[in-house]
Amino acid sequence: LVLGIDSSTQSTKALLVDADTGAVVQEGRAPHPDGTEVDPRAWLAAVDEAAGPMLEKAEALAVGGQQHGMVLLDEAGEVVRPALLWNDTRSAQEAADLIEEMGGAAGCVEEIGSLMVASFTAAKLRWVRDHESANARRAARILLPHDYVSAHLAGADLSVGSSEPFTDRGDATGTGYYSVRTEAWAPELAARAIGHELVLPRLPQAPQEIMARTPGGAVIATGTGDNAGAALGLGLGPGDVSVSIGTSGVCAMVSDAGPGDVTGTVTGFADATGRFLPMTTTINAARILEFGRSLLDVDWDEFARLALSSTPGAGGATLLPYFDGERTPNRPAARATFTGLSTATSRADVARACVEGLLCSLADGIGALEERTGTAAASITLIGGAARNPAVRALAPAIFGREVTIAPDGEYAALGAARQAAWALSGAAEPPAWTISGSETVGAEATPQVLEAYRELKGRTEGWG
Ligand code: XUL
Repeated sequence: LVLGIDSSTQSTKALLVDADTGAVVQEGRAPHPDGTEVDPRAWLAAVDEAAGPMLEKAEALAVGGQQHGMVLLDEAGEVVRPALLWNDTRSAQEAADLIEEMGGAAGCVEEIGSLMVASFTAAKLRWVRDHESANARRAARILLPHDYVSAHLAGADLSVGSSEPFTDRGDATGTGYYSVRTEAWAPELAARAIGHELVLPRLPQAPQEIMARTPGGAVIATGTGDNAGAALGLGLGPGDVSVSIGTSGVCAMVSDAGPGDVTGTVTGFADATGRFLPMTTTINAARILEFGRSLLDVDWDEFARLALSSTPGAGGATLLPYFDGERTPNRPAARATFTGLSTATSRADVARACVEGLLCSLADGIGALEERTGTAAASITLIGGAARNPAVRALAPAIFGREVTIAPDGEYAALGAARQAAWALSGAAEPPAWTISGSETVGAEATPQVLEAYRELKGRTEGWG
């Protein structure tokens, strides 16, 4: 048996899995504080609660975690300040400053594989330097969320002088101080961000390397970021795309090369198998549906029924859903725009426009991946909470203009972590061949006019924020 953990933005999920088949035999879950700034010690308590009962049953484990989070520790290994997370946008200006210091967009992308945004760890380090100088001076070591949780399970010493904490290439590519050019840390970038040298975690030589053991002797694999974990859990191969609709909307494609996108639309993170995982991330995803549902004051079933009772194009109503600003496209100060309303616009049209706005935003994400990689998506798999919404399932193939696979409900980041643990345990060249049963493939007549109306509105509002 192997254990996979996902320390995500809202909670910790743990799966005990049969290493040969991938069948889940036991599950655990514990909430931890949600938000954009969280004391990382809360994640450790949640991991103990969710995974504690399974620890002694597992021969190997790995941890997946929310990407980018800044876990800043002092000389003694103590937490310096609450972790600033991927969804904390206060460091937008600092990201822009760092890009400029790297010689502009081209220099930045050449070095770190992506155009830096506020989410990246380096931008958060710079924010601490500029706004909390005492915390900056105290900082000695920097870890990502999954590294911090892995170190806890290893019983590692986090004080400076010990070299025990570790990370992986996938999560390292979201920091802004890992060089895709040299395939190694660029410690000078971390130092420049915060103003002095920081101790960085160890990097593995191979994705299936054994990095540590628990006090009970179980193997600990590298772990990875949640999106790379989900790709491994779904068993995606080159060209396969996953579309995750949760707090954030993430479109990711497994690829043999990084996208090198200087526009910043597609980030060039590594995956957990030695390949890349070009990705687009929107910050308005499930909340678009929640906006519509609460505005109409209906439950989820009724919201889906309303959306499906309208017609393609929602009677002319189009929603550009940048409610809380947007990251892809990079419009941090934007707000949502609803157009095409008439006195004939119905509640059903409003619900439909919300679902279509969400799916059009994701369709643009898929399109950007295809354009940047020069590869047509070999398959599209929908995951995440909002993928369960019947209107999303029914309309996704129409808006995307092709078949969509709906994965069964599951914790794919935790499953991917378990698969990585099984891989490390086996020592094989490839991850174990697990299959997911219960996927459903759905098609529909394409409605390209809906995406055209959306893109027209997107173009027209360029520069609004
Ligand atoms: C990816 C990103 C989010 C987090 C969510 O760049 O910021 O998807 O990984 O946990």
